[in-house]
Amino acid sequence: MNLSDSHVPSYWSASEQEVFRQWWWRREDLRYVEGHLFLGDQNLHSLAYSVGTPCYVYNSSRIKQNILRIHSALERASLRHRIFYAIKANRNPMLLTYIRSLGLTGVDCCSPNELLFGRQVGFLEEEISYTGVSVSNDDLAILTRHSGVFINCDSLSQIRRLGHLTPGREIGIRVNPNIGLSYNAASRLQYSGHKTTKFGIYKDSFLEALQLAAEYKLNVTGIHCHSGFGFLSKELPVLEMLLNEICWFVDQLKNPKYVNLGGGLGVPFVKDDCPLDLEAWARLIANYFAPKDLEVFVEPGCYIVKDSGVLLLQVTQIERKQDKIFVYVNGGHNINLSSMFYQLPLAVVPVVLQKQQDMNSRSNWIQVSIAGNINEAIDIFAEDIYLPSLQEGDYLAFLNAGGYGSSMSSNHCMRGHFMEFLIYPKE
Ligand SMILES: Cc1ncc(COP(=O)(O)O)c(C=O)c1O
Repeated sequence: MNLSDSHVPSYWSASEQEVFRQWWWRREDLRYVEGHLFLGDQNLHSLAYSVGTPCYVYNSSRIKQNILRIHSALERASLRHRIFYAIKANRNPMLLTYIRSLGLTGVDCCSPNELLFGRQVGFLEEEISYTGVSVSNDDLAILTRHSGVFINCDSLSQIRRLGHLTPGREIGIRVNPNIGLSYNAASRLQYSGHKTTKFGIYKDSFLEALQLAAEYKLNVTGIHCHSGFGFLSKELPVLEMLLNEICWFVDQLKNPKYVNLGGGLGVPFVKDDCPLDLEAWARLIANYFAPKDLEVFVEPGCYIVKDSGVLLLQVTQIERKQDKIFVYVNGGHNINLSSMFYQLPLAVVPVVLQKQQDMNSRSNWIQVSIAGNINEAIDIFAEDIYLPSLQEGDYLAFLNAGGYGSSMSSNHCMRGHFMEFLIYPKE
């Protein structure tokens, strides 16, 4: 949403105001109030100062709004549906408990430990969908103790071994329709693109998969397809091709009950990204599956949590090295991997905009690179971005940090420490 420019300090020069307007990410619950960045009702400088950094902060209201937006789009398209939040995006116990307390979603799990964790925070078996890869016999032994969980098999071997353990069970089959759907069509973010991947059962093996399931009297009631990460509105024509292909798989089933379209719904990462039009997304799905009277399952992770969170870090030093000015922070890529791992653009903003007296002493906005505290050459969060001039000790906020941040972190260089806060609106 566009906020009024009354949030731009009036004493700023025209060029500073122009850069400020580039801050496309501003919205009702993420904005500057008198120069201080707020997430919901939380002043992020006060929080960083009192609790220290590195610190992830998640806005519970935004998570709820994101879930409700998906529900209402699917409802308006008159689709019977269920949402399974993908735990892998963020498994923080407070956040997961909060999502459970909303009662609006189940969970998507991809490992036995995620499944057990889902159970620990209160999700019932029938609220859990399991889609794993390279599933071992030990994994299967755990899965089969939870008979109410939806299991989507993604290989012939998994069908055979599951059938042997629990003949007669209902299953879904994860398919690979050879079409990838991802942010900017990036192939590295695709699970079922043109390049052969390890995921799902391809068309050429699908009838064999059904035969195998029949041998073990497995009742195949669902088709599952997770095709990629981060798609936005401009990728919807690709979704249409994908849905068309998925229909072929559904049509081979004797008794289809559901189609699970996985996750992959994206959020904007840069100013020019047009947000995903959920209504158009839901209408497309309805075109294909409403006539078949199938229940539609979706498993978003990113869309539900990514834009709900920020990572707060402190500037440790600022130094020019040859032609570059490096702003070093007290956290590394090991605690916020996704920009490097998925090569996604990262938005970095100051937590406090400086006051007039400081503004006078600085030479406008500067081009900087943000460097982490890990001894790895790739430990650069952002290169050549513009920020208002900073001082050592200032705080920075990394946006879109609510998903695939803490959950992917490691203790590399023994610098894995961070805190996590879930914030609620003031009563
Ligand atoms: C099977 C499956 N479902 C859902 C998701 C969640 O995807 P996203 O966070 O992009 O919505 C993933 C992510 O890898 C996945 O593999």
